[in-house]
Parts: sequence; C-alpha cells; structure tokens
Amino acid sequence: MSQGLLKTIDNRSLNADDIIPLYESDTHSIYWIGSVEKSEEPEEIECNSYLLVDCGEAYIFEPGGLSHFQGAFDKVCQKISPFEISHIFMSHQDPDVCASLPSWLQFNPDINIVCSHLWQRFLPHYMVYHAQYLAMPDEGMTINLKSGGKLHCISAPYLHSPGNMVVFDSISGFMFSGDIGAASQKSNAFKLVIEDWSEHIKSMTGFHQRYMGSTKAAAAFTASISHLPIQAMLPQHGQIFRHTEVQAFLDWFSTLPCGVDFLYPDKE
Ligand SMILES: [Fe+2]
Ligand SMILES: [Fe+2]
Repeated sequence: MSQGLLKTIDNRSLNADDIIPLYESDTHSIYWIGSVEKSEEPEEIECNSYLLVDCGEAYIFEPGGLSHFQGAFDKVCQKISPFEISHIFMSHQDPDVCASLPSWLQFNPDINIVCSHLWQRFLPHYMVYHAQYLAMPDEGMTINLKSGGKLHCISAPYLHSPGNMVVFDSISGFMFSGDIGAASQKSNAFKLVIEDWSEHIKSMTGFHQRYMGSTKAAAAFTASISHLPIQAMLPQHGQIFRHTEVQAFLDWFSTLPCGVDFLYPDKE
C-alpha cells in the first residue's frame, strides 16, 4: 500500500487522537502526528507534525509548539522508539514550529537539527544547546535515505521567513511545505484533507496575503519547484493538498498579491 492511503482518506473516518498513516511501503512510511488539542489560549493555532520512517530511521517534520509535544511524542512511540529519530526538520524559526525542540532533544541529544543556516544562531534562545545542526545553505541541499530515496531541502526565502525551507521526499512525492499552503478553519470538525477547493481558498487567503513576503518570492518559488513530481503538499497548518489541488495551489499562489505587494500596492 502506498499513495492510495492518502488518495482515499475520508475526513469523516479520522480521529485526531490517532496517528494517521499517509504513505506506507516496506521501507518507507509517512504519518500525521499532529494535534488539534486546544490550549487555554483562544488564539493558539493548530499544528501539523509529520513522521517519516525509512528503513528504521525516523525523521520528524515540524516538531511543533511546546503544548503539542506530548501528543506527537506519544504517536511516534506507537511506531518507533524515539531513540531512532535521526533528524528533525524545521521549515523556519517560529515558536509553533520550534518550541518543543528541547523536549525532543532530551530523549536523544544526537538528533540532527535541519533548518536554514539563518536560524542556527537563534535556536539557542529556545534553550537548545550543544546541538548538532545540518544547516541548509540558500541554494538548498539533499539528504540521502537508507532506502535510496532523497530528501531535497529547498530554499523558499520570505515564504514567510527570510530563511525558509520546504522538503521534497523523492519516494512518496510528498512536499512538506511549512507555512506555504497553511489554512485556518473555523469549523470544530477535524479535517486533514481538503474537501471543498473554493472554501479552502478562503481559509488560506488572509494568512498568505499578510504573512508571505511578496508576489515575486511566491512566483520565484513556484517556478523553482515546477519540475518536481509532487503528489501531495503537506503544510504545517490546515489541510493536505492532493492530486490536482497541488497545481491549483501553486497557480493561485504564484500571482497572489502578498506581503509588501499587498501592503503597498501603489509602490513600484
Ligand atoms: Fe510561521
Ligand atoms: Fe506556522
């Protein structure tokens, strides 16, 4: 079983308390390990975290905020020992991505932290000391997997962070897109995949207009990944993009007035 898992997912059959398989083969599996638990803070946003297991090695994408740690950790333990986690990927420096990092490193201080080189000097402020970094240069980098697959770390500057990274998994064709493609739903029902495209655009628009850096950055990024055979796009918030939704998003995003172009439309 492989991509059929994600293709056939029905939101109504999902429980957010479960670890949810998105791709499974003998050597390579991907799971949703996020959380929709609400904190006391009404403005807190939900986090998607993902676990990739490749030939017994585990990779975490977007570890999440501090309050999300226990839920994600418990889900990882259902599939693999946390001591098998070799890498943690962070698309950028925000607290909803990084604040749980010290908790993960408590269990295994040898975990490699993968992030843009811009943030290595800042992460000690999360009380992350003596850590091992794989700092992505602006031109990107590739990490080889035991199975023979590759994780392509791709620079996406100013979307929204100045040092921003997305990761493309060559085996599944999944792209872990960070805040690119993030959405916030008003509904209390747990939805992991998009159901209604026109409604989904509404739930993305405000965030992308205000948080993404510029239309030029969006257009340059979408052009830079146009050659990739992306099967699904997995953002840090909101729903997963499948099939034609990936290209529909990239077409929408590449011309969206956002960031400085949205705020200052009359400035050349
Ligand atoms: Fe962010
Ligand atoms: Fe975020």
